[in-house]
Amino acid sequence: MDRRKFINLSGLGITSFSIPNFIQSTNPSNLIQPIVASTWDAGMRANVAAWEVLKNGGQALDAVEQGVMVTENEINCCVGLDANPDRDGFVTLDASIMDHQFNCGSVAFLERIKHPISVARKVMEKSPHVFLVGAGAQAFALANGFKLESGTLSEQANKNYKAWLKTSNYQPVINVEKNQSVTYNDPAFNAPKKLTDGEWNHDTIGMIAMDQFGNLSGSCTTSGAGFKMRGRVGDSPIIGAGLYVDNEVGAVVATGQGEDVIRVAGASAVVEWMRQGKSPELACKLVVEKINRIKKEKAKDIQVCFVAINKKGIVGAYALQKGFNFSVYNKEGNTLKDAGYLI
Ligand code: GLY
Repeated sequence: MDRRKFINLSGLGITSFSIPNFIQSTNPSNLIQPIVASTWDAGMRANVAAWEVLKNGGQALDAVEQGVMVTENEINCCVGLDANPDRDGFVTLDASIMDHQFNCGSVAFLERIKHPISVARKVMEKSPHVFLVGAGAQAFALANGFKLESGTLSEQANKNYKAWLKTSNYQPVINVEKNQSVTYNDPAFNAPKKLTDGEWNHDTIGMIAMDQFGNLSGSCTTSGAGFKMRGRVGDSPIIGAGLYVDNEVGAVVATGQGEDVIRVAGASAVVEWMRQGKSPELACKLVVEKINRIKKEKAKDIQVCFVAINKKGIVGAYALQKGFNFSVYNKEGNTLKDAGYLI
């Protein structure tokens, strides 16, 4: 693929992105520059769809839904119906979405529905509840116009599942991406694609955005851990763990080992550090450090990462292990950035 490298920020030691001076307002003269950030390099492609909404004056909530739908449409390990199945051979999906007014919706253990993020949004907007799971979530989706898909595994997922069945040993794999801190303006890089064997290696897509009115929203969608126990749900659909938005403070998404994000109420904890004045990157780091303390020597076997944005539009991220990258799109372009890490 022909990728054109425009800016390499890593050489400058820059670890955060910012946009200057905004005032939250609906007054056109006070409109601010929007920004969107998402997990992993799959986020580069998701960001393109989100930016299309934001640059045209759309709302952060629409941006974060449409952004992660791109990843739900891709064939990859960990998001959408073509991802790896659970240990019984079924793909089960988790997703959540949250807006700037504490409205939120989630689905978990959802089968055979293509866009769980849109079902989560429907739960938020059309149900009296926040969280639907399993058969009930699927029935709700069908009642709201979603189509029941075949349930057949993608070719790659089937291959992976057959390989896994040889040992049937559940062992979470730490996701490590090759390090790249660059801005890509090549449409070929940003276009949705089917990942090849060698690229079958990212994780949950989480996305946070600030729109031109200064409002924040976030989304998160995943098939969870490959070959998980049937019924397992991770952090992604749990508001406060995989995703949290407080429009007075900031928004946060998580990726990595969901069990360890849940036990520290990860995304909410990062927001609370930002409320106390910590930068987004430091707030993420403080929660990663807590997970490291809790896990002790087992910390080396897991990966956990957070991406956060504060009300000044500053984005920061931090991971437990080397290898996590995140994608940020603002008026300067779409940039893939390596996160700092603890161990
Ligand atoms: N972070 C995704 C999961 O653990 O399910």
